[in-house]
Amino acid sequence: MAEAVRWGILGTGKIARAFANALKEVPDARLAAVASRSSDKARAFAGEFGAGAAYGSYEELAAADGIDLVYVGTPHPQHAENALLALRAGKGVLCEKPFTMNLREAEQVVTLARSRRLFLMEAMWTRYLPAFLETKRIVESGEIGKVSQVVADFGFTASFGPEHRVFNPELGGGALLDLGIYPLSIATALLGPVQEIKAQAALGPTGVDVQTGFTLRHAGGAMSVCSCSFLARTPCELTVSGERGHVRMNTMFHRARSVTVALDDGSSRTIDTPYLGNGYVHEVIEAQRCWRAGLTESPAMKLEETLALMGVMDEIRRQIGLAYQADQPR
Ligand SMILES: NC(=O)c1ccc[n+]([C@@H]2O[C@H](COP(=O)([O-])OP(=O)(O)OC[C@H]3O[C@@H](n4cnc5c(N)ncnc54)[C@H](OP(=O)(O)O)[C@@H]3O)[C@@H](O)[C@H]2O)c1
Repeated sequence: MAEAVRWGILGTGKIARAFANALKEVPDARLAAVASRSSDKARAFAGEFGAGAAYGSYEELAAADGIDLVYVGTPHPQHAENALLALRAGKGVLCEKPFTMNLREAEQVVTLARSRRLFLMEAMWTRYLPAFLETKRIVESGEIGKVSQVVADFGFTASFGPEHRVFNPELGGGALLDLGIYPLSIATALLGPVQEIKAQAALGPTGVDVQTGFTLRHAGGAMSVCSCSFLARTPCELTVSGERGHVRMNTMFHRARSVTVALDDGSSRTIDTPYLGNGYVHEVIEAQRCWRAGLTESPAMKLEETLALMGVMDEIRRQIGLAYQADQPR
Protein backbone atom coordinates (compact mmCIF):
# COMPACT_ATOMS: atom_id res chain seq x y z
CA MET A 1 0.00 0.00 0.00
CA ALA A 2 1.12 3.56 -0.71
CA GLU A 3 2.37 5.56 2.24
CA ALA A 4 -0.48 7.13 4.18
CA VAL A 5 -1.52 10.69 3.44
CA ARG A 6 -0.76 12.70 6.58
CA TRP A 7 -3.63 14.93 7.65
CA GLY A 8 -3.67 17.84 10.06
CA ILE A 9 -6.98 19.07 11.44
CA LEU A 10 -7.65 22.68 12.50
CA GLY A 11 -10.38 22.84 15.15
CA THR A 12 -11.80 20.26 17.52
CA GLY A 13 -15.56 20.82 17.15
CA LYS A 14 -18.40 18.73 15.83
CA ILE A 15 -17.29 18.41 12.22
CA ALA A 16 -13.61 17.94 13.14
CA ARG A 17 -14.69 14.90 15.14
CA ALA A 18 -16.75 13.54 12.26
CA PHE A 19 -13.82 14.10 9.91
CA ALA A 20 -11.38 12.36 12.26
CA ASN A 21 -13.78 9.41 12.37
CA ALA A 22 -13.90 9.35 8.57
CA LEU A 23 -10.09 9.25 8.37
CA LYS A 24 -10.15 6.04 10.42
CA GLU A 25 -12.18 4.40 7.65
CA VAL A 26 -9.69 5.25 4.91
CA PRO A 27 -6.83 2.74 4.96
CA ASP A 28 -4.21 5.07 3.47
CA ALA A 29 -5.12 8.11 5.58
CA ARG A 30 -3.44 9.05 8.84
CA LEU A 31 -4.31 11.71 11.36
CA ALA A 32 -0.85 13.20 11.80
CA ALA A 33 -1.81 16.18 13.95
CA VAL A 34 -4.61 18.26 15.37
CA ALA A 35 -4.58 21.89 16.43
CA SER A 36 -6.85 23.76 18.75
CA ARG A 37 -6.83 27.23 20.24
CA SER A 38 -6.37 25.35 23.51
CA SER A 39 -3.54 22.88 24.17
CA ASP A 40 -5.79 20.86 26.48
CA LYS A 41 -8.44 20.40 23.84
CA ALA A 42 -5.82 19.49 21.24
CA ARG A 43 -4.31 16.85 23.54
CA ALA A 44 -7.72 15.39 24.42
CA PHE A 45 -8.69 15.19 20.73
CA ALA A 46 -5.32 13.67 19.80
CA GLY A 47 -5.72 11.07 22.53
CA GLU A 48 -9.23 10.15 21.47
CA PHE A 49 -8.50 9.90 17.74
CA GLY A 50 -4.90 8.76 17.85
CA ALA A 51 -3.36 11.87 16.28
CA GLY A 52 0.43 11.82 16.11
CA ALA A 53 0.78 15.38 17.45
CA ALA A 54 -1.32 17.97 19.27
CA TYR A 55 -0.75 21.71 18.90
CA GLY A 56 -2.14 24.52 21.02
CA SER A 57 -2.30 26.91 18.07
CA TYR A 58 -3.21 26.66 14.40
CA GLU A 59 0.05 28.41 13.50
CA GLU A 60 2.10 25.60 15.06
CA LEU A 61 0.31 22.94 13.04
CA ALA A 62 0.69 24.94 9.84
CA ALA A 63 4.43 25.22 10.43
CA ALA A 64 4.92 21.59 11.45
CA ASP A 65 6.68 18.98 9.32
CA GLY A 66 5.06 15.72 8.37
CA ILE A 67 1.67 17.04 7.27
CA ASP A 68 0.49 16.74 3.67
CA LEU A 69 -3.06 18.06 3.82
CA VAL A 70 -4.76 20.38 6.29
CA TYR A 71 -8.48 20.07 6.93
CA VAL A 72 -10.12 23.33 8.04
CA GLY A 73 -13.00 22.53 10.41
CA THR A 74 -13.49 25.93 12.06
CA PRO A 75 -16.52 28.28 11.85
CA HIS A 76 -17.09 29.95 8.45
CA PRO A 77 -15.50 33.35 9.28
CA GLN A 78 -12.23 31.56 10.14
CA HIS A 79 -12.07 29.50 6.92
CA ALA A 80 -10.22 32.01 4.75
CA GLU A 81 -7.70 32.95 7.44
CA ASN A 82 -7.04 29.30 8.36
CA ALA A 83 -6.79 28.11 4.76
CA LEU A 84 -4.38 30.96 3.94
CA LEU A 85 -2.28 30.04 6.98
CA ALA A 86 -1.90 26.45 5.81
CA LEU A 87 -1.28 27.38 2.18
CA ARG A 88 1.38 29.92 3.12
CA ALA A 89 3.13 27.11 4.97
CA GLY A 90 3.08 25.02 1.78
CA LYS A 91 0.32 22.59 2.74
CA GLY A 92 -2.62 21.43 0.65
CA VAL A 93 -6.04 22.31 2.05
CA LEU A 94 -9.48 20.75 2.29
CA CYS A 95 -11.74 23.54 3.57
CA GLU A 96 -15.19 23.09 5.08
CA LYS A 97 -18.30 24.55 3.51
CA PRO A 98 -19.23 27.29 3.02
CA PHE A 99 -15.78 27.74 1.53
CA THR A 100 -15.50 31.29 2.91
CA MET A 101 -17.85 34.09 3.97
CA ASN A 102 -17.95 35.72 0.54
CA LEU A 103 -16.47 35.71 -2.94
CA ARG A 104 -13.76 38.22 -2.08
CA GLU A 105 -12.32 35.92 0.60
CA ALA A 106 -12.67 32.88 -1.66
CA GLU A 107 -10.70 34.63 -4.40
CA GLN A 108 -7.86 35.36 -1.97
CA VAL A 109 -7.61 31.71 -0.97
CA VAL A 110 -7.86 30.36 -4.51
CA THR A 111 -5.34 32.90 -5.81
CA LEU A 112 -2.78 31.88 -3.21
CA ALA A 113 -3.27 28.15 -3.82
CA ARG A 114 -2.89 28.67 -7.56
CA SER A 115 0.18 30.84 -7.23
CA ARG A 116 1.83 28.26 -4.97
CA ARG A 117 0.50 25.32 -7.06
CA LEU A 118 -0.96 23.72 -3.94
CA PHE A 119 -3.95 21.42 -3.67
CA LEU A 120 -7.18 23.13 -2.57
CA MET A 121 -10.68 21.69 -2.35
CA GLU A 122 -14.01 22.73 -0.83
CA ALA A 123 -15.27 20.02 1.52
CA MET A 124 -18.61 19.83 -0.26
CA TRP A 125 -18.80 16.16 0.61
CA THR A 126 -22.23 15.46 -0.95
CA ARG A 127 -20.71 16.06 -4.38
CA TYR A 128 -18.59 12.93 -3.89
CA LEU A 129 -21.34 10.63 -2.67
CA PRO A 130 -21.91 7.66 -4.98
CA ALA A 131 -25.68 8.40 -4.92
CA PHE A 132 -25.01 11.83 -6.38
CA LEU A 133 -22.56 10.45 -8.96
CA GLU A 134 -25.17 7.87 -10.00
CA THR A 135 -27.84 10.58 -10.27
CA LYS A 136 -25.54 12.60 -12.49
CA ARG A 137 -24.72 9.56 -14.61
CA ILE A 138 -28.41 8.79 -15.17
CA VAL A 139 -29.16 12.41 -16.09
CA GLU A 140 -26.26 12.47 -18.55
CA SER A 141 -27.33 9.15 -20.07
CA GLY A 142 -30.49 10.84 -21.37
CA GLU A 143 -32.79 8.31 -19.68
CA ILE A 144 -35.09 10.99 -18.23
CA GLY A 145 -34.94 13.11 -21.40
CA LYS A 146 -34.13 16.79 -21.55
CA VAL A 147 -33.74 17.98 -17.99
CA SER A 148 -35.48 21.19 -16.97
CA GLN A 149 -35.80 21.19 -13.19
CA VAL A 150 -34.13 20.42 -9.87
CA VAL A 151 -36.00 20.76 -6.60
CA ALA A 152 -33.87 20.52 -3.46
CA ASP A 153 -34.24 21.46 0.18
CA PHE A 154 -32.20 21.20 3.36
CA GLY A 155 -33.74 22.02 6.71
CA PHE A 156 -33.71 21.05 10.35
CA THR A 157 -35.14 22.60 13.49
CA ALA A 158 -32.22 24.36 15.13
CA SER A 159 -33.02 24.42 18.82
CA PHE A 160 -29.89 26.36 19.84
CA GLY A 161 -29.44 29.63 21.67
CA PRO A 162 -28.55 32.88 19.89
CA GLU A 163 -24.87 32.45 20.75
CA HIS A 164 -24.56 29.17 18.79
CA ARG A 165 -22.69 29.44 15.52
CA VAL A 166 -25.82 28.74 13.45
CA PHE A 167 -27.49 31.91 14.74
CA ASN A 168 -24.54 34.05 15.82
CA PRO A 169 -23.65 36.59 13.08
CA GLU A 170 -20.08 36.81 14.39
CA LEU A 171 -19.66 33.10 13.67
CA GLY A 172 -21.27 33.36 10.23
CA GLY A 173 -24.72 32.26 11.41
CA GLY A 174 -27.60 31.82 9.00
CA ALA A 175 -29.34 29.05 7.08
CA LEU A 176 -28.04 30.02 3.65
CA LEU A 177 -24.33 29.70 4.41
CA ASP A 178 -24.80 26.63 6.61
CA LEU A 179 -27.43 24.68 4.66
CA GLY A 180 -28.41 26.53 1.47
CA ILE A 181 -25.01 25.81 -0.03
CA TYR A 182 -25.99 22.11 -0.32
CA PRO A 183 -28.99 22.47 -2.65
CA LEU A 184 -27.19 25.28 -4.49
CA SER A 185 -24.06 23.22 -5.07
CA ILE A 186 -25.86 20.08 -6.18
CA ALA A 187 -28.34 21.94 -8.42
CA THR A 188 -25.44 23.66 -10.15
CA ALA A 189 -23.60 20.38 -10.58
CA LEU A 190 -26.65 18.97 -12.36
CA LEU A 191 -27.89 21.99 -14.32
CA GLY A 192 -24.79 24.09 -14.93
CA PRO A 193 -23.76 27.63 -14.06
CA VAL A 194 -26.29 30.01 -12.53
CA GLN A 195 -27.44 32.92 -14.70
CA GLU A 196 -30.33 34.41 -12.74
CA ILE A 197 -31.24 34.43 -9.04
CA LYS A 198 -34.41 35.27 -7.11
CA ALA A 199 -34.38 34.88 -3.32
CA GLN A 200 -36.54 35.52 -0.29
CA ALA A 201 -35.80 34.93 3.38
CA ALA A 202 -37.02 35.25 6.93
CA LEU A 203 -34.47 36.90 9.21
CA GLY A 204 -34.47 35.84 12.88
CA PRO A 205 -33.84 37.74 16.13
CA THR A 206 -30.04 37.71 15.68
CA GLY A 207 -30.40 39.26 12.22
CA VAL A 208 -29.35 36.21 10.20
CA ASP A 209 -31.61 34.22 7.88
CA VAL A 210 -33.50 31.39 9.55
CA GLN A 211 -35.19 30.31 6.34
CA THR A 212 -34.33 31.13 2.74
CA GLY A 213 -35.80 30.12 -0.59
CA PHE A 214 -34.24 30.79 -3.96
CA THR A 215 -34.96 29.97 -7.55
CA LEU A 216 -32.16 29.84 -10.06
CA ARG A 217 -32.06 29.92 -13.83
CA HIS A 218 -29.11 27.94 -15.11
CA ALA A 219 -27.19 28.21 -18.37
CA GLY A 220 -29.29 26.45 -21.00
CA GLY A 221 -32.54 27.55 -19.34
CA ALA A 222 -33.18 24.81 -16.76
CA MET A 223 -34.36 26.00 -13.36
CA SER A 224 -33.82 24.94 -9.77
CA VAL A 225 -36.04 25.62 -6.79
CA CYS A 226 -34.04 25.47 -3.57
CA SER A 227 -34.69 26.10 0.09
CA CYS A 228 -33.01 25.87 3.47
CA SER A 229 -34.39 26.27 6.95
CA PHE A 230 -33.56 26.27 10.64
CA LEU A 231 -37.28 26.35 11.44
CA ALA A 232 -38.49 23.07 10.02
CA ARG A 233 -37.41 19.47 9.61
CA THR A 234 -37.81 19.43 5.85
CA PRO A 235 -37.53 16.21 3.83
CA CYS A 236 -34.02 17.14 2.55
CA GLU A 237 -34.88 15.78 -0.84
CA LEU A 238 -33.34 16.24 -4.21
CA THR A 239 -35.20 15.47 -7.40
CA VAL A 240 -34.06 16.17 -10.92
CA SER A 241 -36.76 16.05 -13.58
CA GLY A 242 -36.80 15.81 -17.33
CA GLU A 243 -39.27 15.26 -20.19
CA ARG A 244 -39.54 11.52 -19.57
CA GLY A 245 -39.29 11.23 -15.79
CA HIS A 246 -37.26 12.03 -12.73
CA VAL A 247 -34.40 10.79 -10.54
CA ARG A 248 -34.50 11.17 -6.79
CA MET A 249 -31.66 10.83 -4.29
CA ASN A 250 -33.47 8.86 -1.64
CA THR A 251 -34.01 9.56 2.06
CA MET A 252 -32.23 12.75 3.09
CA PHE A 253 -30.10 13.42 0.04
CA HIS A 254 -26.91 13.88 2.06
CA ARG A 255 -27.42 10.41 3.50
CA ALA A 256 -28.62 8.79 0.26
CA ARG A 257 -27.87 5.13 -0.11
CA SER A 258 -29.99 4.71 -3.22
CA VAL A 259 -31.52 6.62 -6.08
CA THR A 260 -34.88 6.00 -7.71
CA VAL A 261 -35.67 6.60 -11.35
CA ALA A 262 -39.38 6.98 -12.20
CA LEU A 263 -40.38 7.23 -15.86
CA ASP A 264 -43.52 8.46 -17.57
CA ASP A 265 -44.36 4.91 -18.72
CA GLY A 266 -45.13 4.13 -15.06
CA SER A 267 -41.95 2.13 -14.49
CA SER A 268 -39.54 2.80 -11.69
CA ARG A 269 -36.34 1.27 -10.40
CA THR A 270 -34.17 1.85 -7.37
CA ILE A 271 -30.40 1.55 -7.53
CA ASP A 272 -28.45 0.95 -4.32
CA THR A 273 -25.34 3.08 -3.99
CA PRO A 274 -22.46 2.75 -1.52
CA TYR A 275 -22.18 5.05 1.49
CA LEU A 276 -18.93 4.54 3.31
CA GLY A 277 -18.63 5.24 7.04
CA ASN A 278 -20.25 8.52 8.04
CA GLY A 279 -20.29 9.74 4.42
CA TYR A 280 -17.26 12.04 4.71
CA VAL A 281 -15.07 9.11 3.71
CA HIS A 282 -15.87 9.77 0.04
CA GLU A 283 -14.48 13.33 0.10
CA VAL A 284 -11.35 12.10 1.88
CA ILE A 285 -10.80 9.47 -0.81
CA GLU A 286 -11.24 12.10 -3.54
CA ALA A 287 -8.92 14.63 -1.87
CA GLN A 288 -6.24 11.98 -1.42
CA ARG A 289 -6.65 10.68 -4.97
CA CYS A 290 -6.18 14.20 -6.36
CA TRP A 291 -3.30 15.06 -4.06
CA ARG A 292 -1.44 11.84 -4.86
CA ALA A 293 -1.94 12.47 -8.57
CA GLY A 294 -0.34 15.89 -8.19
CA LEU A 295 -3.58 17.71 -9.05
CA THR A 296 -4.21 21.11 -7.51
CA GLU A 297 -8.00 20.76 -7.49
CA SER A 298 -10.68 18.11 -7.80
CA PRO A 299 -11.94 17.70 -11.37
CA ALA A 300 -15.32 16.77 -9.85
CA MET A 301 -15.68 20.23 -8.33
CA LYS A 302 -13.28 22.76 -9.71
CA LEU A 303 -12.29 25.89 -7.85
CA GLU A 304 -13.98 27.99 -10.55
CA GLU A 305 -17.23 26.41 -9.40
CA THR A 306 -16.48 27.07 -5.74
CA LEU A 307 -15.89 30.72 -6.66
CA ALA A 308 -19.06 30.89 -8.75
CA LEU A 309 -21.14 29.46 -5.88
CA MET A 310 -19.70 32.00 -3.45
CA GLY A 311 -20.73 34.69 -5.94
CA VAL A 312 -24.27 33.27 -6.07
CA MET A 313 -24.48 33.28 -2.27
CA ASP A 314 -23.25 36.89 -2.21
CA GLU A 315 -26.08 37.83 -4.58
CA ILE A 316 -28.69 35.89 -2.57
CA ARG A 317 -27.50 37.70 0.56
CA ARG A 318 -27.71 41.04 -1.26
CA GLN A 319 -31.32 40.26 -2.18
CA ILE A 320 -32.34 39.17 1.32
CA GLY A 321 -30.43 42.00 3.01
CA LEU A 322 -27.87 39.95 4.95
CA ALA A 323 -24.32 41.22 5.45
CA TYR A 324 -21.53 40.09 7.77
CA GLN A 325 -18.45 41.70 9.24
CA ALA A 326 -16.41 39.96 6.52
CA ASP A 327 -18.27 42.01 3.88
CA GLN A 328 -17.01 45.32 5.26
CA PRO A 329 -14.40 47.01 3.06
CA ARG A 330 -10.89 46.21 4.27
N1 LIG B 1 -19.69 19.00 6.09
C1 LIG B 1 -20.62 18.92 7.02
O1 LIG B 1 -21.50 18.05 7.03
C2 LIG B 1 -20.60 19.91 8.13
C3 LIG B 1 -21.32 19.65 9.29
C4 LIG B 1 -21.23 20.55 10.34
C5 LIG B 1 -20.45 21.69 10.18
N2 LIG B 1 -19.79 21.92 9.02
C6 LIG B 1 -18.96 23.13 8.86
O2 LIG B 1 -17.85 23.02 9.73
C7 LIG B 1 -17.55 24.25 10.32
C8 LIG B 1 -17.53 24.07 11.84
O3 LIG B 1 -18.80 23.63 12.28
P1 LIG B 1 -18.99 22.80 13.65
O4 LIG B 1 -20.41 22.44 13.72
O5 LIG B 1 -17.96 21.74 13.72
O6 LIG B 1 -18.68 23.95 14.71
P2 LIG B 1 -18.18 23.77 16.21
O7 LIG B 1 -18.67 22.48 16.77
O8 LIG B 1 -18.52 25.04 16.89
O9 LIG B 1 -16.60 23.66 16.07
C9 LIG B 1 -15.84 24.67 15.52
C10 LIG B 1 -14.42 24.59 16.06
O10 LIG B 1 -13.68 25.61 15.43
C11 LIG B 1 -12.70 26.11 16.33
N3 LIG B 1 -12.77 27.59 16.33
C12 LIG B 1 -11.84 28.42 15.81
N4 LIG B 1 -12.19 29.68 15.97
C13 LIG B 1 -13.37 29.68 16.63
C14 LIG B 1 -14.21 30.70 17.11
N5 LIG B 1 -13.92 31.99 16.94
N6 LIG B 1 -15.34 30.35 17.75
C15 LIG B 1 -15.66 29.06 17.92
N7 LIG B 1 -14.88 28.03 17.49
C16 LIG B 1 -13.75 28.34 16.86
C17 LIG B 1 -12.97 25.51 17.70
O11 LIG B 1 -11.98 24.55 17.92
P3 LIG B 1 -10.80 24.84 18.94
O12 LIG B 1 -11.43 25.54 20.12
O13 LIG B 1 -10.31 23.50 19.27
O14 LIG B 1 -9.77 25.70 18.27
C18 LIG B 1 -14.31 24.82 17.55
O15 LIG B 1 -14.40 23.63 18.26
C19 LIG B 1 -18.60 25.24 9.82
O16 LIG B 1 -18.06 26.04 8.80
C20 LIG B 1 -19.71 24.36 9.27
O17 LIG B 1 -20.38 24.93 8.14
C21 LIG B 1 -19.84 21.04 8.02
